Amino acid sequence: MKSVDDFRLRLGKKELVPIVLGGMGVDISTAALALECVRLGGVGHISDAMVPSVSDKRFGTKFISQKTKFFKFNLGNDDKSAVRFDLGQLDEATRLHIGRTMEAKRGEGMIFVNCMEKLTMNGARETLKVRLNSALDAGIDGITLSAGLHLGSFGMMAENPRFRDAKLGIIVSSLRALQLFLRKNARLERLPDYVVVEGPLAGGHLGFGLEDWKQYDLRTITNEIRDHLKAEQLDIPLIPAGGIFTGSDAVSFLAEGSAAVQVATRFTVARECGLPAKVKQEYFRASEDDIEVNATSPTGYPMRMLKNSPSIGSGVRPNCEAYGYLLDGSGGCAYIDAYNREVLAHPHAKKIKVLDKTCLCTHMRAYDCWTCGQNTWRLKDTTYRLPDGTYAELTAEHIFHDYQFSVDHKVALPEQP
Ligand SMILES: Cc1cc2nc3c(=O)[nH]c(=O)nc-3n(C[C@H](O)[C@H](O)[C@H](O)COP(=O)(O)O)c2cc1C
Repeated sequence: MKSVDDFRLRLGKKELVPIVLGGMGVDISTAALALECVRLGGVGHISDAMVPSVSDKRFGTKFISQKTKFFKFNLGNDDKSAVRFDLGQLDEATRLHIGRTMEAKRGEGMIFVNCMEKLTMNGARETLKVRLNSALDAGIDGITLSAGLHLGSFGMMAENPRFRDAKLGIIVSSLRALQLFLRKNARLERLPDYVVVEGPLAGGHLGFGLEDWKQYDLRTITNEIRDHLKAEQLDIPLIPAGGIFTGSDAVSFLAEGSAAVQVATRFTVARECGLPAKVKQEYFRASEDDIEVNATSPTGYPMRMLKNSPSIGSGVRPNCEAYGYLLDGSGGCAYIDAYNREVLAHPHAKKIKVLDKTCLCTHMRAYDCWTCGQNTWRLKDTTYRLPDGTYAELTAEHIFHDYQFSVDHKVALPEQP
């Protein structure tokens, strides 16, 4: 019986353990977590979502307080069009987060950064260009373009000296999206080095409709893309993601021609994961009924999360002067509209509730939008309980090795002290 360890991911001259830790913003897939996966021979993603905020936390920079101070004059203003990002600071934060992670890298694996293109940051093109090029300049091994795939992103990096040597990949949820990307980028004569195929059971934002995600399944989409690439004689490694919970799940994709698998949910309860310990317990405790796909993300993409996420219904004042990552370029965000509507409807209320949208920047940063994969309810079966009834966190190494070596759909429990 085969295990994941019988396969290798070939990326250029590298041969890697075919396990890719998916990017989890905002600093849920921490550098520490990604670096463990790299040390063990796989690929680890950090994320550049809200990178100034991450830099403040990791390195004590003051990007957020400086920005808040700078735009203080606008706090009471519904119009957020004046709130712009300082591109120099964005560059500095990106270089710090990525540069320091690369310096700490040990082992044979690779560090990639997940770049969520839906973070339009009130100026999609110029901010994205800085994020991508600063990441390359800081020495990142690879960039994975995700949610809201900007068809012009490869073009924005074309002048960078590392454009052809760094690994560049994209996340898609359909053959159509892949075809569109390839068509738009044909003139650059540079194919993606890998394609992550993300199915409907993943965590974070979904590339499917709120109503129809259940009609899709990862294997069908992956095979469709695999067959298409074969017919076109395009040799691009495929990396399925979403709902791959055991080593055997992974093997079933590798045996059918996938180059690696991307996984995340199992690692949300790793010690090295950025979620606070209390939140990890929420993930452990969750039952299947506690997980939903909803429309509260102002990005317009459905998002999977625990139903008891404090972000749901929170009527926090929009925090765009400090954050503003989802501002659309004209100072707009669906949360601002929803918030203003509720304020208008309840002019005398001290506290309002906003049910349909959430201030994603505020809540992701505070770790109280509990986005998760569909299999989160199975996490409780991956560990043991402590005398106080809580679940024991796992090491990233344990989870990685369980994916790498387990067979027969077994999940190895960690040793009890
Ligand atoms: C907590 C959490 C946060 C995530 N955040 C992001 C993100 O910021 N960007 C992204 O492209 N994918 C994100 N994802 C998706 C993962 O990178 C990954 O592709 C997917 O969850 C894999 O499926 P699995 O969780 O069932 O293993 C997130 C997933 C989780 C569980």
